[in-house]
Amino acid sequence: MSLEKKLNRLEEMRSEAELGGGQKRVDAQHKKGKLTARERIELLVDPNSFEEFDMFVTHRSTDFGLDKHKYLGDGVVTGCGKIKGRMVYIFSQDFTVMGGSLSEAHAEKICKIMHMAMKVGAPVIGLNDSGGARIQEGVVSLGGYADIFLLNTLASGVVPQISAILGPCAGGAVYSPAITDFVLMTKGTSYMFVTGPNVVKTVTHEQVTSEELGGATVHATKSGVAHFACDNEADAISRIKRLLDYIPQNNCEDPPVVECTDPLDREDEALNSIVPENPNQPYDIKEVINAVVDAGSFFEVHEEYAQNIVVGFAHLGGRSIGIIANQPAVLAGVLDINSSQKGARFIRFCDSFNVPLLTFEDVPGFMPGVDQEHGGIIKNGAKLLYAYCEATVPKITVITRKAYGGAYDVMNSKHVRGDMNYAWPTAEIAVMGPKGAVEIIFKKDIAAALDEEAELQKKTEDYREKFANPFIAAARGYVDDIIEPKTTRPRLIRAFEMLDTKKDSIPRKKHGNIPL
Ligand code: HXC
Repeated sequence: MSLEKKLNRLEEMRSEAELGGGQKRVDAQHKKGKLTARERIELLVDPNSFEEFDMFVTHRSTDFGLDKHKYLGDGVVTGCGKIKGRMVYIFSQDFTVMGGSLSEAHAEKICKIMHMAMKVGAPVIGLNDSGGARIQEGVVSLGGYADIFLLNTLASGVVPQISAILGPCAGGAVYSPAITDFVLMTKGTSYMFVTGPNVVKTVTHEQVTSEELGGATVHATKSGVAHFACDNEADAISRIKRLLDYIPQNNCEDPPVVECTDPLDREDEALNSIVPENPNQPYDIKEVINAVVDAGSFFEVHEEYAQNIVVGFAHLGGRSIGIIANQPAVLAGVLDINSSQKGARFIRFCDSFNVPLLTFEDVPGFMPGVDQEHGGIIKNGAKLLYAYCEATVPKITVITRKAYGGAYDVMNSKHVRGDMNYAWPTAEIAVMGPKGAVEIIFKKDIAAALDEEAELQKKTEDYREKFANPFIAAARGYVDDIIEPKTTRPRLIRAFEMLDTKKDSIPRKKHGNIPL
């Protein structure tokens, strides 16, 4: 056969592979409001940058007549491409080929790019749209999943792993995205659950739709499985690109530095009056964050979950930082089970990938209650504490108002290796809130007073004056400086610059045992 004929055959085979499960199934995919595996990749990567691998791979199964149903590529498109000039490895499941179900060969393709990503040191982006294990292949398919889970775990903390769920993701298949660093879901077209509505109905007699059980909104607000609930696939893909702006290619690199047009010495007068005089009055910590970081650079993660803590990335003077902030506008910023987990996971991502941490603290303490105690606020609060203690990246804290009790210690205090700890003059650093404190230490005096209420109030004011301020902590060096709120941005930029070459370590160990 002449070369020309061979090239023609190659072209024919490429066209066949590109059509996936055929035009009818592509049309059905579009009708559901979903893109095809290749259209998604096209949206994700820089034009003409995608290099596809294993386009001609087919499954090897002969059971249930599968030998007569072979599709080039076997239900997943894999390869590498560039996003804003930076290399990423991608797998994109093709629902038009046997529902994107995972065969042995399909799993091998995913594992191949994961191995390469780890060797090269580039992020892995998984675009998931699959009916799960290829039922006809049985245990071989289960083995394929386990191979992926293992690589997800080995790659964790080595290269960033991002999972977009753009269709079904059910059964054990959910555990691959769950191990990765960030999960994005599309509203209305994606769902994740370990057992679907039918099994739920049989076992627990609960009647629930797929969307109610495991849709994007549920996972972004209730379970916390999804970090982002996206309006559609284009939204999901643009968020993946934005996320990459803040993170390095691998654990040996620093995050990219971007050009900063926001003046480094910009002060913000509004910050001087943002904390209300009444300590029980809320304010929105996101206003503080946005006033301090480079204009428009705050990118919130887990926005709708455990809103009493705010986490996300930003640029400060063009450098990436990870922000953890108590949110006084939600449950007074109290730390509970969910917010502790949310904070801890984010801190560990940042520390794994050399993203410095900035903490804004205004926390009345840990959430009281039977539900919280029985639900394990002890072990979950300990996760946040552990994550802060363990982190060796530059760590800066700004105490805007309350830093009470154990929460003072936890939220990146000097004692857990906070590098620079600042307080605003409005800070109240104490064992507990003034009222609670005087009710305990002056219980008898208050009971003996003619006017108990007036006595309580007087003692509370005295206590606030004496203890609920930043000066006692500053006298000990527990805060490095008390700063005027409006100067926070320039002070932080200088502090992070000063810490740029920081080196710190943890004792040699196989790995720690975070209280899971
Ligand atoms: C083989 C599958 C498949 C699967 C779907 N298909 N899932 N083929 N193995 N797991 C095929 C269908 O036969 C069909 O083929 C095509 O994909 C599209 O499926 P439809 O059912 O027509 O699509 P839709 O109505 O949109 O429903 C999608 C679906 C449904 C909800 C995902 O297909 C479904 O329930 N599939 C089975 C899901 C499941 O139970 N998977 C195993 C889970 S256990 P044609 O030829 O008609 O186009 C699991 C264990 C993993 O995954 C464990 C890891 C540890």
